[in-house]
Amino acid sequence: MKKSIIRSTGMFVPPNVITNHDLEKFMDTSDEWIKQRTGIEQRYWIDQEGTTGASDLAYEAAIMAMDSAGWTAQDLDFIIFATLSPDIMFPGAGCFLAAKLGLDSTPTLDIRQQCTGFLYGIATADAYIKSGLAKKILLVGSEVHSSGLDKSTRGRDVTVIFGDGAAAVCIEGVKTDEKAGVLTSSLHTDGNLAEALTVELPASKFPDRFPPGVPVDDIRFYPIMNGPAIFKKAVRMLPQVINESLEKAQIGLEDIDLIIPHQANMRINQALGQFLKLEEHKIFHNIQKYGNTTAASIPLALHEAIAQERIGKSGEIALFVGLGAGLTWGSVLYKFL
Ligand code: ACO
Repeated sequence: MKKSIIRSTGMFVPPNVITNHDLEKFMDTSDEWIKQRTGIEQRYWIDQEGTTGASDLAYEAAIMAMDSAGWTAQDLDFIIFATLSPDIMFPGAGCFLAAKLGLDSTPTLDIRQQCTGFLYGIATADAYIKSGLAKKILLVGSEVHSSGLDKSTRGRDVTVIFGDGAAAVCIEGVKTDEKAGVLTSSLHTDGNLAEALTVELPASKFPDRFPPGVPVDDIRFYPIMNGPAIFKKAVRMLPQVINESLEKAQIGLEDIDLIIPHQANMRINQALGQFLKLEEHKIFHNIQKYGNTTAASIPLALHEAIAQERIGKSGEIALFVGLGAGLTWGSVLYKFL
């Protein structure tokens, strides 16, 4: 059976750096609060006057990944696009990305699993490769959060954590007897906790998509989050789902060279490290620079971890893990060929 091998990675963030001090200008917050509670120092936002969508950021990341793999768009036989912020309600952002790449028949699939979009995406890519349905897959995570955030004090708990950005991986089915590539994936959803993080409007469940008389600045047009509830769930479920993947792959925590968690909050990942008694260098953080880029966060961290030579040598094992809106959570074990 073929193994799903990551050939290359790419990333892109828009040019505008928004520091915590910039946020202080339009909401009651402080650099100190944001750094202490989340670890975030800055994030990138698209130009707020323009029309940049998730597929535009994805295009740049995809080109970087494909150049690095030596692939052209015509080589792709499947595109998976993970995002919670598609360019428009429908069609999916993957359709726009494929068109921007000059393609007119390559299949695309959008994944709407928020912070675990990359985990669901890589598990899907692995299944397509192992079943023989695809050989060369582009998997992209991309988010434009900044155009949909409540930038007043009302939205400060959510707005300070999110950043815009994209990252992509080229995944290829390779015949090898080595134990390599995607070793195992463990995915979960608990929709009973869906209300802990939502953007509710517009919604198909309402006539004309809106409840009657709703004002245009209604809070339900923006992300609403029960941060403490998600925080507690994350510190409980992340170690559990890591153990689930380790057991499935029959390897120990000591065999993992680097844990690359979703970058939602530095404190969540530090708590994870403490719970697992991990040495500092075994867990990767870049939330300081980018904030929470949701579906882009794990592949963006993977791209930087490889660039910094923290992971990527033949035989090394990375563990991707995350929890987010849905609630959804999961982990994927990956061994470099
Ligand atoms: N600046 C200043 N004060 C703030 C801010 C802010 N930006 N945001 C909230 N506060 C205030 C609150 O109003 C509250 O004040 P009070 O005590 O007077 O009522 C106080 O700070 C504490 O608020 P908490 O919400 O309890 O703060 P907490 O320490 O939990 O941090 C945070 C909030 C950062 C959101 C945290 O709960 C968190 O990271 N949760 C997990 C988020 C997550 O993982 N989400 C899933 C991924 S995202 C996705 O899936 C799309």
